[in-house]
Amino acid sequence: MLNLDSTPTNMTTHPTQDRRILFLFPLALGSFFLLGTVRVLLDNLKNNQFQFLWQSSFSRDNNKFLRVPINVTLDEVIEESCNVFEGQWVWDNVTYPLYKEDTCPYLVKQVTCQRNGRPDSLYQNWRWQPHGCNLPRFNALKMLEMLRDKRLMFIGDSIQRGMFESMVCLVQSVIADGDHSTIRVPPRKIFRIEEFNASIEYYWAPFMVESISDHATNHTVLKRLVKLDSVEKHRKLWEGVDILVFESYVWWMHKPFINATNWEWRGGIDGNCFNETQPIRGPYWGTGSNLEIMSILKDVINKLQINVRLLNITQLSEYRKDGHTSVFGERRGKLLTRQQRSVPKAYADCIHWCLPGVPDTWNELLYGILLQDYRNH
Ligand SMILES: *[C@@H]1O[C@H](CO)[C@@H](O)[C@H](O)[C@H]1NC(C)=O
Ligand SMILES: *[C@@H]1O[C@H](CO)[C@@H](O)[C@H](O)[C@H]1NC(C)=O
Ligand SMILES: *[C@@H]1O[C@H](CO)[C@@H](O)[C@H](O)[C@H]1NC(C)=O
Ligand SMILES: *[C@@H]1O[C@H](CO)[C@@H](O)[C@H](O)[C@H]1NC(C)=O
Ligand SMILES: *[C@@H]1O[C@H](CO)[C@@H](O)[C@H](O)[C@H]1NC(C)=O
Ligand SMILES: *[C@@H]1O[C@H](CO)[C@@H](O)[C@H](O)[C@H]1NC(C)=O
Ligand SMILES: *[C@@H]1O[C@H](CO)[C@@H](O)[C@H](O)[C@H]1NC(C)=O
Repeated sequence: MLNLDSTPTNMTTHPTQDRRILFLFPLALGSFFLLGTVRVLLDNLKNNQFQFLWQSSFSRDNNKFLRVPINVTLDEVIEESCNVFEGQWVWDNVTYPLYKEDTCPYLVKQVTCQRNGRPDSLYQNWRWQPHGCNLPRFNALKMLEMLRDKRLMFIGDSIQRGMFESMVCLVQSVIADGDHSTIRVPPRKIFRIEEFNASIEYYWAPFMVESISDHATNHTVLKRLVKLDSVEKHRKLWEGVDILVFESYVWWMHKPFINATNWEWRGGIDGNCFNETQPIRGPYWGTGSNLEIMSILKDVINKLQINVRLLNITQLSEYRKDGHTSVFGERRGKLLTRQQRSVPKAYADCIHWCLPGVPDTWNELLYGILLQDYRNH
């Protein structure tokens, strides 16, 4: 057991000297990755012998799904040589946002910045444009077809909950009312889509490994203890899941050895994200995103025997200082008061993201990579 609030240990000062930690730390990064069972999904698709996915559409008469075959067109497939994580944000108020904040009932109030009073909405109109290729347009029906008879689970902290909610919002517009349900079994949330026998799930496990902070509501912020070599407790709940998407980082913050927040932005009030309405253009990498830890992650993933893909969304997210909830979010489960909002230096939240917003792009990338893998297998 390791007390994160004690004085620094070898863990933080000499990460390469402790093999156990070497293995686990990479799991604790601010990037998302798919683990393991993706291959199972892809193999299943392949074994169906179809060269296309099935598109489902409503028959208006009886409200039942019909299966209509469609193609995965070539322009929807990301070229193997293209690094989709290198690119720029381009203004696109024609196609973005991909859904509207007030038409998606699944957003928690932490992310509904407009409803919470944010005066500007330009942050919803940016599209990620990779340098070498285009991302396929998110197609909710194709996403659901890839999830038919499958479970997709997002595991991580509250930032990961944003990605989960984004995915639910991205697909929910094409699902008939009454054909889906949300089940809350803390620390899990399950969005089920009956017609597709599919579920999109969120599992709150902020450290991924076992910790004393795993209870959804009763968790201490101070005196956190983590069991670095144990995922046993959580693993039980993700066993059998077809696609796993992991994320963790900010709970590991242990200043000044593991920084997780960037307060060095220029232009904002007090150097934070408050009142920022434009993405950063040009090179920017905050010291909160530790490249050394990231390179360990890369090494470990390369050594794994299972099919894991890294969604290296760190750089593209770093540019989006305008996309955070700032003072239009929550603190300890409550929206900020007017008084708190007037003290952005103390209260601006530069960790969580407004939705619609940046996490939608993470899901577009996930979608693109799933389509790519499907096509390749
Ligand atoms: C695939 O697309 C081609 C060209 O658009 C079309 O002729 C063909 O019928 C499509 N196949 C399926 C299975 O939809
Ligand atoms: C979209 O952006 C352009 C360029 O900034 C602007 O001229 C136009 O009015 C905007 N359209 C909408 C619907 O906001
Ligand atoms: C629904 O999906 C599960 C896997 O998530 C599968 O075990 C089950 O057989 C499916 N049910 C039907 C009716 O196809
Ligand atoms: C909350 O968690 C602490 C530490 O794990 C434990 O001692 C305490 O009994 C818990 N309280 C409740 C109400 O569950
Ligand atoms: C964390 O940030 C502090 C400044 O707040 C800096 O001195 C320190 O070097 C940073 N640590 C890392 C690992 O980047
Ligand atoms: C926010 O920024 C704008 C200019 O970009 C400025 O006019 C305004 O006073 C700022 N608001 C606050 C509360 O600082
Ligand atoms: C992720 O992207 C950043 C910047 O684009 C790069 O520096 C870093 O090496 C990448 N990480 C991995 C693990 O590929």
